[in-house]
Amino acid sequence: MKKGILLSSVVVLGLVTGCNSDKSTPGYTYMDDMYRSPSLETYSAAANTAQGTAAQLPVEGTVARGYVPYDLPNSNEGYEASKNNSAVPSYFAALDAEPGKELYGTFCSHCHGLKGDGNGILMEREKILGVPGYSTSRLPDITPGTIYHVIMHGKNNMGSHASQLTYEERWKIIKYVMKLREDQSATAAPAEPAA
Ligand code: HEC
Repeated sequence: MKKGILLSSVVVLGLVTGCNSDKSTPGYTYMDDMYRSPSLETYSAAANTAQGTAAQLPVEGTVARGYVPYDLPNSNEGYEASKNNSAVPSYFAALDAEPGKELYGTFCSHCHGLKGDGNGILMEREKILGVPGYSTSRLPDITPGTIYHVIMHGKNNMGSHASQLTYEERWKIIKYVMKLREDQSATAAPAEPAA
């Protein structure tokens, strides 16, 4: 019995002295490396790395896999330069228009209309003004290159769609816009009123 009391007082003593009143420290720890991981937390300070943190910035000029840089600036000069289609990928000519239809329906039709006539639901309800149809009479000078430019940078009331679409999706949509343009140009003989 005495032995039992002695043993439990040792345990209680251990528990009491193992704690301390500072809540930010674990008190005495008997197997320290099990409490504190020796590995670095992602954004913690790290003395032995060049940038002083565990996570390092990528080397300057790094391009993420699948990301295609677009260098033409959001300016009139950039727009003019985009006309010569230097950004158009070689596979564009052979693309089908159909796969771009759904994407167009999701991202463009509420303004430009399902047919590309500029009468999307937001135009009909007058939530936005000045959305052009794609016909050659309304937009005589657009090319796949300028459409890409406008998707990347936006234009006036049209915001950039760069962050919403992948590189491949943009070209799919552009192919579909060029098809709508053909259809619109065949039907829209009299010039649509300027917006
Ligand atoms: C919020 C409404 C809106 C959405 C969504 C929208 N546009 Fe536009 N878009 C406009 C407006 C407004 C203009 C006219 C800009 C101007 O010239 O002032 C325009 C202009 C254009 C032009 C002609 C630009 C030029 O070179 O003059 C193209 C091409 C175009 N949009 C394509 C698209 C495509 C492709 C999408 C879908 C990815 C899209 N737009 C989504 C509103 C929109």
